[in-house]
Amino acid sequence: MCGIIGYTGYSDARGVLIKGLKTLEYRGYDSAGIALYNKNKNVADVIKCKGRVALLDEKTKDAAGTCGIGHTRWATHGSVSDENSHPHKFGEVTLVHNGIIENFNSIKNQLGVESMLKSDTDSEIVAALINAYYQKDKSPEKAIIKAVKEITGTFALGIMFDGIEDTIYAVRNVSPIVCCQNDDGAYIASDIMAIGEYSDNYFILPELAVAKVDRNGFFITDFHGKEIKPKMLKLDWDIKNNGKTGFPFYMEKEICEQPSVIEKTIKSRTSGDMPDFSGEKIDESIFEKCENITVIACGTAMHAGLIGKHLIEKYCKIPVSVNMASEYMYSDPIINEKTLVICVSQSGETIDTLEALKYAKRNGAMTLSIVNVRGSSIAQASDNVIYTDAGPEIAVASTKAYTTQAAVFYLITAKAAYIKGLMSKDKVRDFIRQLNEIPSAVQKVIDGRNEIHKLSNMLLTAEHTFMIGRGLDYPTLLEASLKLKEISYIHSEAFASGELKHGTIALITDKTPVIALLTQERLMSKQVSNIKEVQSRGAQVITFIKSSLKDEAIKCDFALPDTADDFTAIPAVCAMQLLAYYVSSDKGLDVDKPRNLAKVVTVE
Ligand code: F6R
Repeated sequence: MCGIIGYTGYSDARGVLIKGLKTLEYRGYDSAGIALYNKNKNVADVIKCKGRVALLDEKTKDAAGTCGIGHTRWATHGSVSDENSHPHKFGEVTLVHNGIIENFNSIKNQLGVESMLKSDTDSEIVAALINAYYQKDKSPEKAIIKAVKEITGTFALGIMFDGIEDTIYAVRNVSPIVCCQNDDGAYIASDIMAIGEYSDNYFILPELAVAKVDRNGFFITDFHGKEIKPKMLKLDWDIKNNGKTGFPFYMEKEICEQPSVIEKTIKSRTSGDMPDFSGEKIDESIFEKCENITVIACGTAMHAGLIGKHLIEKYCKIPVSVNMASEYMYSDPIINEKTLVICVSQSGETIDTLEALKYAKRNGAMTLSIVNVRGSSIAQASDNVIYTDAGPEIAVASTKAYTTQAAVFYLITAKAAYIKGLMSKDKVRDFIRQLNEIPSAVQKVIDGRNEIHKLSNMLLTAEHTFMIGRGLDYPTLLEASLKLKEISYIHSEAFASGELKHGTIALITDKTPVIALLTQERLMSKQVSNIKEVQSRGAQVITFIKSSLKDEAIKCDFALPDTADDFTAIPAVCAMQLLAYYVSSDKGLDVDKPRNLAKVVTVE
């Protein structure tokens, strides 16, 4: 969490920093701040405040400079306050930090600086430590290297030194920093989205490397002073055209983009209606060799893994376990050379998923990651990567990343089933043809969104809701429930319908609306009975039913488009995303930036 940015050059640094921080706000929006180098006084001046970047923008209107660093915070150590906002200045050192310093307490005691600290953050201690070393021989590089060697935890740091104008230092361990330059100067940021408009060529700062950044560019060394030439990457997202394009919120825009991004994800990985990963140079022997699959991910990405489990187990007959990344390493997982670990991540930076991936690799697993952000840490750490073509996802609540991840699982299923000889070429082609129908089915749901909007009124005053479904509908509802919780603040629980009566049905009253999903033909009669059970306890039920399954036994509130049962998950979740979206926007909430959240979770 937290976003950092830095710029040194010939233009207005405040403008570059504030604009970049607005883009980085998805990483945290508790407070924000910048430091600008003041050439008259030869010091870095800090301006920071609790609240959104828009407030900082107001507060810094008169500030000027051509070199500076900035930060947008998701609070970890220390409450949300002006003092705990970044940048932190200690002595001659001013810095911004993304990550967590685990041994901050022992460093604080060792330095004996407690009474001099102005904040409760772990980050200020790093400034104090670098400053302590800097006082010895006034070498910024040596001071930074000595300090970061003592730190345990994760960090991306942007650092300025009083007395050294036009220069920023950047250093990273795990937490990302990307860099680019143009004739106007040099730029660093947590994410290319914040600085991609300045150049199409960029690089990722290697881990455990220090970059000296001045107007002319970058000089990078490892911790032994050996120069490193970074690998240049080409930006392939249209970052310049990234506004809301008339939608009130990014979330609605991103929901509506799903037909095209799902289609792109499928089309670029199929040829002649066969799955084709040759563009990404996937080592296809992993599908032949694997005898068990472990999916590792968090939140929404993990729910995509549950769709993958349903498909892979059914068509490829390979047992699949889906694991929360944060628990994986600590659960003594069974890994052998026949284990294929599939990590799923939109950002490619979720620390729990990244650490679990590294653990699985160390223990001999084959690895494949499904990632949206090109060149991200998870993509780099994985032996094989399939990228989703969702494009930049700005709303904190994930929508198009999820459905493109699910689309990739369909492709993996078809490929693995074919390689294992469990599906003939004709069957695979038929499967892919059905997959190709998904974008238009999703479009039909989007076209019917006014009906979903009306249904959302039934949830506006609810405090608790339940969502019930069976088979493939259950993982879809886990995702639907997460969406509703995170953006509308209504408590929601998804249940496999048959399980509800084993205790939780005690919570059903006329004040707990129930959302029921019915897309699985063979489970229809059982699901109808489960709906009757909650209705007879007073619950108002909102039903989403696949058109061809509509039946007199149960009223249908929203008819989902017809697709084969195994292909309903994506159109159905789109309806649920819209439901959550309308509840949140009609409640007047900040749909794109729900409270307490950040889009990229870089702390464990
Ligand atoms: C919810 C949401 C999160 C993320 C999770 C993993 O809408 O977006 O649950 O799915 O934090 O993030 P990534 O996919 O970036 O690893």
